[in-house]
Amino acid sequence: GSEEDLAARPPVVTVMGHVDHGKTKLLDAFRDTHVVEREAGGITQTIGAYQVDTEVDGQTRAITFIDTPGHEAFTAMRARGAKSTDIAVLVVAADDGVMPQTIEALNHAKAADVPIVVAVNKIDKPEADPNRVRGQLTEYGLVPEEYGGETMFVDVSAKQGTGLDELLEAIVLTADAALDLRANPDMPAQGVAIEAHLDKGRGPVATALIQRGTLRIGDSIVAGSSYGRVRALIDDQGSNVDEAAPSTPVQVLGLTSVPGAGDNFLVVDDDRMARQIAEKRAGR
Ligand code: GTP
Ligand code: NA
Ligand code: MG
Repeated sequence: GSEEDLAARPPVVTVMGHVDHGKTKLLDAFRDTHVVEREAGGITQTIGAYQVDTEVDGQTRAITFIDTPGHEAFTAMRARGAKSTDIAVLVVAADDGVMPQTIEALNHAKAADVPIVVAVNKIDKPEADPNRVRGQLTEYGLVPEEYGGETMFVDVSAKQGTGLDELLEAIVLTADAALDLRANPDMPAQGVAIEAHLDKGRGPVATALIQRGTLRIGDSIVAGSSYGRVRALIDDQGSNVDEAAPSTPVQVLGLTSVPGAGDNFLVVDDDRMARQIAEKRAGR
């Protein structure tokens, strides 16, 4: 498409950090739901994706968040998360300070050349030391603005709900300063499957992040080496929708097999072409 075809899209923000530093709780606070309680053992197993709205300078701005697990076993997921994102929010618990997966997440974001906003979480705790976090991250090249650097640090408590508006504002400011967030909605959709699983009742279910174009019910799609026709689209509120625009996370039903997490997907002309591409990719 030409320049005129480009429309503003929300920033895609991946929330990263060490295990139990409060990534899911923070998203939970933004959405005011209870994702943490529902998780098996309180550990994020897969990537969740949600869109939230915030007011900045009297304007409503949408932000797409992708949650990632902090457990060391999920290195590949963090690497993929960093690649499909516009901004990384690095969550560091103010009582624990910088830990191994904090550094690993930071390195993935740097490798992907993604701007980083630091959320210093759990400041409600008596043993919280947010300045120590600033000092530690300065040693890794993330210098806070208040120390003359370029990185925004925001103190938050996901538990008490403090600092949340400031964090959302920092994300929007970082997006506006550093990024050209536009995509063409008027083309066959392309994106990435950030998570996928087999559901007993619904068959293969993929959580897709739309990167360009608009995905619609009835579209023929290829995701990695799986293919199918979109039967239903479910948004982050659990509602059925007819289409999904750029930067929107959506569950896709209708694939004939489960794609890999991180697989790219694209819409093609018809079912036959979808199957041919998928079979070629699978080496069949
Ligand atoms: P993984 O997905 O396993 O990497 O963890 P996570 O980073 O998503 O952490 P999670 O949101 O599951 O929170 C871990 C624990 O810290 C939970 O018991 C939360 O209730 C608690 N927690 C999170 N944020 C805060 C906070 O701001 N203050 C306090 N006191 N506790 C918090
Ligand atoms: Na946890
Ligand atoms: Mg989590």
